[in-house]
Amino acid sequence: MRESIESIRYLKADLKRVWGAQEPFPFAFLFAPFIWLTVWSNIYYRVGRALYLLPPPLRQLFSPVRLIQKRLLQLATGTDISERADIGPGFFIAHNGTLVIGQGVRAGKNFFVRQGVTLGGDGVRSGHPQFGDNVMLGANAVVIGPITVGSDVIVGANAVVTREVPSDCVVAGVPATVLPGRSGKWADKKHTLKD
Ligand SMILES: CC(C)(COP(=O)(O)OP(=O)(O)OC[C@H]1O[C@@H](n2cnc3c(N)ncnc32)[C@H](O)[C@@H]1OP(=O)(O)O)[C@@H](O)C(=O)NCCC(=O)NCCS
Repeated sequence: MRESIESIRYLKADLKRVWGAQEPFPFAFLFAPFIWLTVWSNIYYRVGRALYLLPPPLRQLFSPVRLIQKRLLQLATGTDISERADIGPGFFIAHNGTLVIGQGVRAGKNFFVRQGVTLGGDGVRSGHPQFGDNVMLGANAVVIGPITVGSDVIVGANAVVTREVPSDCVVAGVPATVLPGRSGKWADKKHTLKD
């Protein structure tokens, strides 16, 4: 039950982060659901996970609700995030578009993903990617397999990552390699939420 409540607390942190990325304008709060459509993905994922983390038999009781909201979101946005994925507070999805985050994926705080990102198993090895804090994934990045991606990492657009990634670096390409001399500490640099 404690974990379910935590999931809702994380939603508050997600929404705060999304709201903070918006230029303020008069009565902006009235237009909140239209500012970042991806907020609906956050709501689905956090509420779905809260229901999934309920103790049995409550979890089973709410299974149809989880299933229906998941499929509706998939239809509306193309987003498919497993409620078994464990993502920390401050989860930000930039732009709508197909996004797949499979079960078993874990990420720390301030996880930032763009459209087209796919995270999951590689279909060969068992296990899913684990991410540290402050990781940003560029458009259409694919991270697959039982690998660890450190904290403060930027993954370039269209990268395919299948091997371990150390902390504080930028990776890009197919297969992804570390770009020399670059810091992955993006939050306070040019790679901002408003890109
Ligand atoms: C990876 C990234 C963060 C690197 O930015 P950067 O540090 O400014 O890097 P540079 O542009 O100086 O490029 C460095 C080298 O990496 C290559 N490179 C950069 N991004 C690349 C990418 N996504 N895939 C393959 N190679 C890439 C460049 O061609 C360059 O190669 P060279 O040294 O042989 O000339 C950035 O290019 C990127 O992909 N950002 C994702 C942003 C995104 O998804 N935007 C979508 C908005 S909707």
